[in-house]
Amino acid sequence: MRAAALIRARSELQRVVSGWKRRRLTTGLVPTMGALHAGHAALIRRAARECDRVIVSVFVNPLQFSPGEDLRRYPRTLGADRRLAAAAGADAVYAPSMAGMYPEDFKTHVEVEGLSDLYCGKYRPGHFRGVATVVLKLFNHARPDRAYFGEKDYQQVLIIEAMVRDLDVPVRVVRVPTVRARDGLALSSRNAYLSAAERAAAPALRAALLEGRRAARAGAKAAAVVDAVRRALRGTGLKLQYAARCGSRLLAAAHLAGTRLIDNLRVN
Ligand code: PAF
Repeated sequence: MRAAALIRARSELQRVVSGWKRRRLTTGLVPTMGALHAGHAALIRRAARECDRVIVSVFVNPLQFSPGEDLRRYPRTLGADRRLAAAAGADAVYAPSMAGMYPEDFKTHVEVEGLSDLYCGKYRPGHFRGVATVVLKLFNHARPDRAYFGEKDYQQVLIIEAMVRDLDVPVRVVRVPTVRARDGLALSSRNAYLSAAERAAAPALRAALLEGRRAARAGAKAAAVVDAVRRALRGTGLKLQYAARCGSRLLAAAHLAGTRLIDNLRVN
């Protein structure tokens, strides 16, 4: 199977993108940390439908991992990523080096205040600062017309939208619905950590969110909605970290052995 062209250097990416711009071709960017799956393929296909050229960035961003998280064991599968990217319609994979992204004297960060400390941010201090920083850098490197993000990471999308608005970044952020396995589990690169037994248990998170949504639609107060989610997870092996209403969404994170899972559903 054909692999998407690999670009390592920012200067090379900028040369390619400038050529596209001169020809008035639009560019879509799909930022990822690699270990691509069908959820990423949906982002790439959407980008390929809406843009003339598509770049998938692959960079495992150390700034968004807290000490003790899975930075070292995060799956790195660049060869397979290039093939999946090409099959879904990408023109190039941009995989910058660590030094290319964060030279030794790097000292500037982007912080979207407030929202970054809530929900997932409460349990992953510094995570969204790392996400916002790397995404702004990727926008500056690729200068895309549109950038595509999955709704599975709902809080991440809100933070990137706020950053783009507040810092006048000339890119249109496109939200793409979560892709799920047939049993309801939201696709995630971290699902690769699950043993067979854990994988069988993992769809309980979505099932619990459905219970929470039922309670919310029946008029339950916030605490009762969280209780409904927690009750539904009893005996499943998943430990709820939090569940919370965020605008029209019900968000949750849970631990399943050593793996942290997140998911969300539209309530209204
Ligand atoms: O969603 C992800 O994979 C990452 O958080 C992102 C947006 C690529 C930034 O590293």
